[in-house]
This record gives sequence, structure tokens and C-alpha cells, in this order.
Amino acid sequence: MSGVKWEVVSFPTRKYELAIGAATDVSQDQFMDATNSQPPKFVLPNVKPIAIGNVTVDPPILQAPMAGFTNYAFRQIVREYGGSGLIATEMVNARGFVWLDENTPEHPERLWGVRDEPRPLAVQIWDNQPETMAKVGRRLVEDYRVSIVDINFGCPVKQVTEKAKSGSYLLRTPDKMGEIISEVVKACAPTPVTAKIRLGCTRDNINAIDVAQVVEGAGAAALTVHGRTAQDMFRGHSDWDRISEIRPYLKKIPLIGNGDLDSHQKVLHAFQNYDVDGVMIARACLGRPWLFSQCKAALLGEPVPPDPSLAEQKTCLLHHFDLIVQRFGESKGAQLMRRYACCYAQGRFGARHFRTHVAKVSTAEEFYSVVEEYFPVDKLDV
Ligand SMILES: Cc1cc2nc3c(=O)[nH]c(=O)nc-3n(C[C@H](O)[C@H](O)[C@H](O)COP(=O)(O)O)c2cc1C
Repeated sequence: MSGVKWEVVSFPTRKYELAIGAATDVSQDQFMDATNSQPPKFVLPNVKPIAIGNVTVDPPILQAPMAGFTNYAFRQIVREYGGSGLIATEMVNARGFVWLDENTPEHPERLWGVRDEPRPLAVQIWDNQPETMAKVGRRLVEDYRVSIVDINFGCPVKQVTEKAKSGSYLLRTPDKMGEIISEVVKACAPTPVTAKIRLGCTRDNINAIDVAQVVEGAGAAALTVHGRTAQDMFRGHSDWDRISEIRPYLKKIPLIGNGDLDSHQKVLHAFQNYDVDGVMIARACLGRPWLFSQCKAALLGEPVPPDPSLAEQKTCLLHHFDLIVQRFGESKGAQLMRRYACCYAQGRFGARHFRTHVAKVSTAEEFYSVVEEYFPVDKLDV
């Protein structure tokens, strides 16, 4: 976007450092490292920082790419609370990026903040043309200096699949996926390239094991798997057994499991019960960006910080609003914040009432007054 100044704004509320309550009953002593008698860093023996090419992801808890949500404002807030070893942008349309480059001085809206923000940072791209993807991958590496280029092979939305034959559509042609990955890997070296997939296109055609081998063979540095098929969209549950089954087929790259993790208990459970090197969290962090720090504490065997008080959550929401408005202006900012505001309120007493009112705001004044009057104060109301 031309004409708009991008500013890095520091988080005005206090850092999230409270620590109350026990994380887990797994004792550190159970897992003394035999080689140096030092206790391992994490409470579970299979949890370690992961290496994605030359990037260390520590802790192995990743923030998922989410279109329409994981923009620079949101990523800043996730970073402030801490706990995620790798943060990702929204998916960026590679063909659209090339078109902008050739026709305008602008760059994709979704790359807001990418040049300046802290690392590590993964930028996700999508399309089905190897050369276009390679061109954009190289640009992201050379010009934006991103830590990781991630390729989307999981998006089930019709505009991406049926219309653009990309995203999860490509799962039906693993060879084509391999071509895309190897071109992007060549263009981005030594910056690592990763892939994010679903289990397959349909329940009748689950091919994640085959796809995983193609992904690794083509030079990707990590694989993330959402344990649903494209046909499932978000129905049913993420099948972690299926995700786990992939692990023996990967020779050297990490496997990151994704789907339905919405608490530190579920993250611990995932590492305890499934063969994954890392986990990725999407929807649950939208209204609870502090979730990563809770998961990290649980993995470290430290007391898990409680959720911030509702007053602090409200402050966080207003701070989020400020960041968005500074970038997009009051009118578009207020409109964009409607969806975030609903996420922050979700599960609280009065959430429905709040949603109804916040859905109509179109100025900062309206936003502030709706938050003041209707932001939930107590208990559950799903
Ligand atoms: C609103 C929304 C937008 C998403 N956008 C993307 C995206 O841009 N790229 C991607 O790979 N996955 C995207 N996803 C999928 C998530 O990254 C994740 O795989 C999925 O939500 C399952 O994880 P969860 O159960 O933790 O939400 C999106 C999901 C949601 C809900």
C-alpha cells in the first residue's frame, strides 16, 4: 500500500510474566540426560527445539498462518506475550505479488511489517506455478530477508482450489508439488523452505504419507500436517493418529502436527501421545495470544501463567485495535477489528451480546464505547 506509514509500536501494557499454578506432574528428575547429567530443558524427553534448516525453533510451538488474521498487528501481540518458537504471516498469493511487482510500486498488503519485524518469521505463499513461486520465494529471501518460506498445500477454500488449482488441490498431484518445492528450494537456498498440508483431498484419498516423502525428497526443511482432509474443511476432529503415522517416513526433517490444540494440556498430550517434533496452533490463539506462553511453561515444567484478567484482556484488545487503526485508518480498522474482537470475547459470559454490538462498529469511538459497555466480564457463555 502506498502512502501509508508503517510504524513499529511498542506494547503499552505490562509484560505477561505472571506464573501461578503447576504445569504438569511430570518430574524433571525422570528425564536426566544420560550424556551430561544435566536435566533436559523440557519435561518430556521427546520435546526439543527443532531445526528447520538453519533456523532453530525453540520452543517447538508454532503460530499458524491464518488469512485475514495473522497480520503484523496480531504477530506483534503474539511476540509480546511470547512462547511461540516460530511466527507466520497470512498466506500470500504469489501470482498477485508478481503482478504488483510488474505493474505498481506497491507490495502485498499481507507483507505489512515483514521487512522490519523480529525473526524468526515464516512467510507463506501459494500458487501452482513453480516459476512464479520460485520468483516470489527468491524475492522474499533477498529483499525481505525472511527466515523461512512456507508453501501452502492445505487451503481448502474454493477460490484457491477450484479457481486457482492451488492449495489443497495440489495434494492430488504430488509430483507437481515436488516440482514446486524443488524450484522454490533452489531459488531460496540457503533459506529453508517448508510445506503445510492436510491429510489428503478427501477421506477416500488420504495420501499424506506419499506426499510427505515427496515433500522431503524435493528438499523441504519441515512438514506441517493439519489432520483433516480438504473435504472436511473444519468438520470433525484433527486425526493425530494419522499425523503420527507419517513420522517414520520422514528421514531427517521435522514433522509438525496441527489441529484442535486449544490448551497447554492438549499440547502436552500431543507430545506425549503422538510422534511429532513440533506443534502448530491456529484458531485458539486468535482471542488468546497468551496461549503460547502457557504451552511453553507447561513444556518446561514451569508454573503455567493464568489467563490475564478480563481487564488485561480488554487492554490487549484495545491495544490491538490501536495497531490496526494506525495501519488501516479508523473506518477500515474498525471493520477489521470486528472479527478479532469476537475472538477475544469468545467463551465469556455476554459474548453473544458483545458480538451483536461489535459487528456494527465503524468508528474508533463506537469501538471503544462497545468494548467499554459490552466486553464480557465473567464466566462462560459459548
Ligand atoms: C480464519 C483462518 C484462516 C486460515 N488461513 C490459513 C492460511 O493462510 N494458510 C494456512 O496454511 N492455513 C490457514 N488456516 C488453517 C490453519 O493454519 C490451521 O491449519 C487450522 O485452522 C487447524 O488448526 P487449529 O485447529 O489450531 O485451528 C486458516 C484457518 C483459519 C481458521
